[in-house]
Amino acid sequence: MLVSLTEMCQKAKAGKYAVGQFNINNLEWTKAILLTAQECNSPVILGVSEGAGKYMCGFKTVVGMVNGMLEELGITVPVALHLDHGTYEGTKKCIEAGFSSVMFDGSHYPIEENIAKTKELVELAHSKGISIEAEVGAIGGEEDGVVGGGEVADPNECKMIADLGVDILAAGIGNIHGVYPENWTGLNFDVLAKVQEATNGIPLVLHGGTGIPDDMIKTAISLGVAKINVNTECQLVFAEATRQYIEAGKDKQGKGFDPRKLLAPGFDAIKAKVKEKMELFGSVNKA
Ligand code: 13P
Repeated sequence: MLVSLTEMCQKAKAGKYAVGQFNINNLEWTKAILLTAQECNSPVILGVSEGAGKYMCGFKTVVGMVNGMLEELGITVPVALHLDHGTYEGTKKCIEAGFSSVMFDGSHYPIEENIAKTKELVELAHSKGISIEAEVGAIGGEEDGVVGGGEVADPNECKMIADLGVDILAAGIGNIHGVYPENWTGLNFDVLAKVQEATNGIPLVLHGGTGIPDDMIKTAISLGVAKINVNTECQLVFAEATRQYIEAGKDKQGKGFDPRKLLAPGFDAIKAKVKEKMELFGSVNKA
């Protein structure tokens, strides 16, 4: 059964580790992530962007697929199905469709509007037992057509949003989606510490997990980060494994590729990547 992320992230914060959010795009990714979480005895968060939800035929299809897999694969570790960077409308749709958790990203609105919309959605989500993540200070880079400028959050604004009762808070600290540029100056830990101090111990989220050096990940966890999002790294290993398979020409002697065999190396590559991240984040055996 799907669970909200509240308990798993509070436990992570108290135990000084982080739960990984891995974005899903199709059946293979979902199955690879769920099986790895079970093998690692780790809690896990499946992230779904609105674009990925559309690609998978809509949020109801995603809910049906994930619930089916939990049952048929015998998954017993805590799993949250979480909307990633939701719009106001998308967040409402996921709450209706049966997600166990949502993120409303109002970071591009003026703070008053972010507060008003977040407040309304907190009440709606909580009335159905669903957890909610909010964001202050846009995460830079591009994700699914949403472009952010890599802002650093204002700790006072973080407090205003945290005080609305959100379960977990994403604060921009110089992190960006996708691969970091050569001249990236790293995460701003001073701001992270100030955000944590201002927000009364709420678990924090680190977006843009791809390419952040291991020591920075560990420092972020020590400063209150309890959820880390990873997407691009899974895309890269999936694409590379598939490319190698095709280049090796492992088709049926010129009769074409069996799609199940074609996607198997990418599936294995995602499993290995997710395991590596769960070990780094410290969530192995924390289910
Ligand atoms: P990356 O694609 O940089 O790993 O970021 C993922 C993310 O933050 C999803 O919200």
